[in-house]
Amino acid sequence: MAKNLAQPGILAPLPALRRTMIFRSRPGTESAASLRCLREAYDPASDVFGIGQPLLEESATSIPGLRSFPPLSGTGATVPTTQSALWVLVNGESRGRIFERSKCLLAALEASFELDDVLDTFKYDIGRDLTGYEDGTENPTGDDAVAAALVAEGAGMTGSSFVAVQRWVHDLRGFAGFGNIRGDAMIGRCRDSNEEIEEAPASAHVKRTAQEDYDPPAFMVRRSLPWDSGREQGLEFVAYVNSLDRFDAMMGRMVGLDDGIVDALFQFSRPVTGGYYWCPPLVNDRLELSALEP
Ligand code: HEM
Repeated sequence: MAKNLAQPGILAPLPALRRTMIFRSRPGTESAASLRCLREAYDPASDVFGIGQPLLEESATSIPGLRSFPPLSGTGATVPTTQSALWVLVNGESRGRIFERSKCLLAALEASFELDDVLDTFKYDIGRDLTGYEDGTENPTGDDAVAAALVAEGAGMTGSSFVAVQRWVHDLRGFAGFGNIRGDAMIGRCRDSNEEIEEAPASAHVKRTAQEDYDPPAFMVRRSLPWDSGREQGLEFVAYVNSLDRFDAMMGRMVGLDDGIVDALFQFSRPVTGGYYWCPPLVNDRLELSALEP
């Protein structure tokens, strides 16, 4: 049931290319007008739409479980928040298609929203991070992915999802300087074979994030993709969950809030943006926004 109501882009495989567009609300816009804009703009063939807490505050409504992305800091690791009102993901197989879709979206949304930030990402090889490590291996699949990513019940909520989004900036030269053995130990997997390294240190990324080690387990459907501006590069982390508590718990453990051990990722990468969004369900291919109507 939940799967049939979800925005199809949530559980779809990684596209060749993707664009993230972040919008703030245009001051003075009526919330009914914003919701109308969203309904008219959305195209299930290419888009995933996510609504941020600032938009709900304008309409004096709430979505159970949605909040603004919290800033975090641990020993030497800082996680900023750049929470915005609307997150739009455009999947595409060509730059031309993404250009055309973006043009339509900007025209359809401009009455209520102003574009704040854009990030173009791409699938690298078979789905690797730019460090060369395969990303997404331990993603749940099939019914497990549905259970991890989608809200199972609730009027206007069934089939919706929550997404955590962060832009990470890598120091790839710094990472290369660590060499293969240390690099593998920092991730906790072998770059060449993708085998997990059982004896990796507790700071290894996959030790910090082992989903079944959380109580309750913190399974999530990650759909992260790399980006490269020519000057800087990194990863756009995107994870769909049925509860943001899972991301909160994991990010907390990554920055060392549990035991003082910081994820080794922070030795070569840092997040520079962070947002939480609620991805509404669909009815007849249209966004079902009744949960947002006051
Ligand atoms: C620079 C940013 C990041 C990079 C390059 C990165 C890369 C990777 C890689 C290479 C793996 C191993 C293969 C796999 O199972 O996917 C992995 C696993 C994983 N990562 Fe990340 N990741 C990043 C950030 C994050 C963040 C912010 C979270 C959540 C807060 C996260 C959650 C996970 C989870 C849940 C796993 C699977 C762990 C398991 O159950 O074995 N990652 N990541």
